[in-house]
Amino acid sequence: MVQPFSIALDRASGPPLTEQIAAAIRAAIFDGRLAAGARLPSWRDLAAQLGVARGTVKAAYERLTDEQLIIGQGAAGTRIAARPALPPGLSSAPEAPPLPSFFRDFESSPLPFQMGVPAQDAFPYAHWSRLMARAARAAAAAPVGYPDPRGLPALRREIAGYLALARGIACSPAQIVVTAGFGGALNLAIRTLKLEGGSAWFEDPGFPLTRIALELTGIAPHPVPVDEEGLDVMAGLRSMPDAGLAVVTAGQQAPTGVTLSLARRLALLDWAQRSGGWIIEDDYLGELQLKGRAAPALASLDRAGRVLHIGTFSKTITPGLRLGFLVVPAGLAEQFGTAAACLAPAPAAVIQRAVADFMAEGHFLRHLRRMKRLYTARRDALVAALRQAAPAGCVVRPGGLAVMLDLPDGTDDIDIARRAVLRGLAPVPLSPWRKIVPKPGLLLGVTNVPVERAGALCERLVTLLP
Ligand SMILES: Cc1ncc(COP(=O)(O)O)c(C=O)c1O
Repeated sequence: MVQPFSIALDRASGPPLTEQIAAAIRAAIFDGRLAAGARLPSWRDLAAQLGVARGTVKAAYERLTDEQLIIGQGAAGTRIAARPALPPGLSSAPEAPPLPSFFRDFESSPLPFQMGVPAQDAFPYAHWSRLMARAARAAAAAPVGYPDPRGLPALRREIAGYLALARGIACSPAQIVVTAGFGGALNLAIRTLKLEGGSAWFEDPGFPLTRIALELTGIAPHPVPVDEEGLDVMAGLRSMPDAGLAVVTAGQQAPTGVTLSLARRLALLDWAQRSGGWIIEDDYLGELQLKGRAAPALASLDRAGRVLHIGTFSKTITPGLRLGFLVVPAGLAEQFGTAAACLAPAPAAVIQRAVADFMAEGHFLRHLRRMKRLYTARRDALVAALRQAAPAGCVVRPGGLAVMLDLPDGTDDIDIARRAVLRGLAPVPLSPWRKIVPKPGLLLGVTNVPVERAGALCERLVTLLP
């Protein structure tokens, strides 16, 4: 039987119509509205119903066929494919999936409010492609052999220089391992220090991917509240004194943007030194701080060799590089070098070389300065527009490269985020970031909200709010 099925299209500024149609059908399959065996309208009928070209619906059906979600059966029509039954006790639609929009279409360009991506209109494409071409030529001419698994020496020298200048960390290139982004560095640190099976203090609210990463490596994340001074170290000490690890975003807490106070830094370092615990400092925004000057990294205060500092080029250049780095205490440099060689050698030398040149020629710090100015203007415009447009009961707070919009209790932020994608917006629901008190809210990335569009984009967003 043909299912009644309605799809709301945003023709003004949403993603391509094919994507919107595929996304709506995919969502209906995943949340059970379209059951296995149900018949979809023919693409001609659906095209007529939606007022779009037949080819548009056909392309959406082809995409879903490729994803093995639907099956074309000739004269019998197109039907929803069978899916394995879930084990008893698991519902098909978990209440709070950790990252509802995680497996979105990675090929399409970022939507307004999308988190974690740099401004698309300000990326130095021409310059970057020249650097990449030059790096590709240099790599092709290099001796044919294994590059240093810890990362190209030239890049590690540049990173050490940047860390001394911008993050207050005095380290030698030998202490630096270049990794596949933050995740690569986190995994390497956990494996090398053999932390599996232990427990970790984890900021609440905190970045859900890190929480999941800890769980995947067999570490139990223990939520520790964050207040206006950052991670509440005393609360961690009270509730789980024997954790083996603390993961902190000390520079700009994700998502609140709070800088960990000096008193808390000293308390955290003291805990690590006395208990033998490790601290992983997730410096995901590095020097990219919009208000004032970024505080030195926590690692700059570490005298006992307990802090592993992780940086990434995802926010400062682009996540497409998949490039990050781990800075380890001097006494662990050799052990981490061996672990990198065996478990996680540094990513492709071409990319590393291009980044090293970008830094060596002074473009990196210049680019950071430009982005700070641009993002500050965008953030201010977004905050102002949101304060004007948001209904009563919503609280607007800037943090990092995002603005947090707290929603009234009981609001389904995950559903709002899902519906927003169909309207060409990509806010991130906040409830999966909060475990202690799962309050609803939205995180709105500022980088791709041009000042002159902030008002209109906020108007569109608030139509989805309660
Ligand atoms: C708090 C935090 N840590 C780490 C990362 C991930 O960094 P990478 O892109 O290097 O994996 C992000 C990305 O958004 C983040 O928000």
